Amino acid sequence: MAGHIPPQFIDDLLTRVDIVDIVDARVPLKKAGKNLHACCPFHNEKTPSFTVSPDKQFYHCFGCGAHGTAVSFLMEYDQMSFPESIQELADSVGMTVPTTQSFSASPAKKNLYDLMDRVSQYYIQQLQTHPQRAIFLDYLKQRGLSAQVVEKFGIGMAPDGWDNVLKVFGTDEYNRKQLNEAGLLSSNDKGRTYDRFRNRLMFPIRDRRGRVIGFGGRVLDDSTPKYLNSPETPIFHKGSELYGLFQARKAHRKLDKVIIVEGYMDVIALADHGVTNAVATLGTATTPDHLRQLMRSSPEIIFCFDGDRAGREAAWRAAENALPMLGGNHQLKFMFLADGEDPDSVVQQYGQQGFNDLVADAKNYSDFFFDTLESQLDTSSMDGRARLVETAKPYLKHIPAGVYKDMLEQQLAERAQTSLSVLAKHLDKSPTTKPTTTKKYKPSNNTISPVRMAVTILLQHPELHTAVGVFDKIATLELPGIGILVKMLETLQQFPHLNTAALLERARDTEHEAHLQKLALQSLSLSSDELKHELAGMVQQLQQQAIELRHAYLVQKGLRNLTVEERQEIQLLNI
Ligand code: UTP
Ligand code: MN
Repeated sequence: MAGHIPPQFIDDLLTRVDIVDIVDARVPLKKAGKNLHACCPFHNEKTPSFTVSPDKQFYHCFGCGAHGTAVSFLMEYDQMSFPESIQELADSVGMTVPTTQSFSASPAKKNLYDLMDRVSQYYIQQLQTHPQRAIFLDYLKQRGLSAQVVEKFGIGMAPDGWDNVLKVFGTDEYNRKQLNEAGLLSSNDKGRTYDRFRNRLMFPIRDRRGRVIGFGGRVLDDSTPKYLNSPETPIFHKGSELYGLFQARKAHRKLDKVIIVEGYMDVIALADHGVTNAVATLGTATTPDHLRQLMRSSPEIIFCFDGDRAGREAAWRAAENALPMLGGNHQLKFMFLADGEDPDSVVQQYGQQGFNDLVADAKNYSDFFFDTLESQLDTSSMDGRARLVETAKPYLKHIPAGVYKDMLEQQLAERAQTSLSVLAKHLDKSPTTKPTTTKKYKPSNNTISPVRMAVTILLQHPELHTAVGVFDKIATLELPGIGILVKMLETLQQFPHLNTAALLERARDTEHEAHLQKLALQSLSLSSDELKHELAGMVQQLQQQAIELRHAYLVQKGLRNLTVEERQEIQLLNI
């Protein structure tokens, strides 16, 4: 989508806008040295770890890891789409967003959102007026759901029949195309098209901002599939959505904990009994993407699973996915229900308090982690305890270095009845996260590659690009990241006044986005002069390396076999 607003406009915009004004208007900032800080708006905290850098035009929370430009801030905080956030920023400094033809990509999506909203209203209305509504209403009653919660979650019904939605919404070719794109139609081998959802109880799935992006439809009997879900569409991506997150965020200004359950009905039944902080994945495992979203919404995440084997296996998968995100200010916990129960049945039977008592008993991540590993071993023997260390090792590697990791290692030592120093010999000590970049750059330094370092410096101090000499040969080097480096140098040559935020925005929605955001956060503790020196030195060294390789290649080809151009080239390479 970023491609549809001219990148130069975004560059200009980001040099005119001051992120400090944008954030400060929503979250009052206080001066803290060179930067400004506040308590983070994306998670609960008592001491400020949310900082805004006027130099980089960038925000970063050391607690929850939220970070980005003024554009990202509006997208996260005001829940705006990318074009909306650009529009808002442009308005704030009196600029007009160029309305090129291609900028109309978002209206296409907007039409899909509109359509989903209207269809969702239609299903609700059917539940109120359709002649067959009684069986659906009886079913809801039998499931113990109140009229309020049915309304709150927008539950509706898709009447029986092949073309109810098709008739109402597919009035012409264009509208039928839209219905199809929204995933509301199915077709058979003979090319006949009909309503995807028929004779089902309809659960609209909303995104974080409350827009209907898909549906889950449940049968009223035992036929299969029990739930039919919307397919992937331009606005619906199963792996990153959480059912109920919109309602949970609406119910709490700040969520102090959030519970992940397995089913739509669990979220709804819990909400009906006052447990308004539950969300569900859409029938998939919990992905790292889900976890990141939840970590932005709440400091404590509790996984709630069935007590059966499938539930324990799902919990272990979730635990594995969470490894790279452990530590920081977040708590992850696990709770298990008795075999055969789910949150819906528990809360119906024992009420809000009964369910919350179980939540309060949830296991810490570390206990779940070690208990699960130990359950497969005999830790009463020395051999078993040695196995425990070996088994835990590959998992610990994925945890970011820090206090949390240290404490897990300590716990492992205790459980294995050994000392930390013995243990340390067996655990691969991953490189510390202390800034290795403070070391003076040496060509032999292999902890951070020159390319990565050069990109980091350029990204954080784009103005230093003027110190870089000739770099026309470096693109030929087969080094990771060399493409990004060349691109960045070329971009800065062409647009010398870009700042960090503008460079990051240029990478939005590209494969480099995440990588560059990470580099933007690296701490560079050298002075500006030293960085300039480093950058120039590194690019020069890369250029030299490229020249030598080319020279060696031409020499190895043999003077006789060279073309006229290659002979000229070898002379120009002057080694
Ligand atoms: P459950 O079978 O636990 O569903 O599946 P539930 O929400 O508790 O529903 P009830 O109580 O039987 O009515 C958990 C989730 O897995 C997905 C849905 O997201 C469901 O909420 N699922 C399940 C499907 O997508 N398709 C299916 O056929 C079954
Ligand atoms: Mn259920």
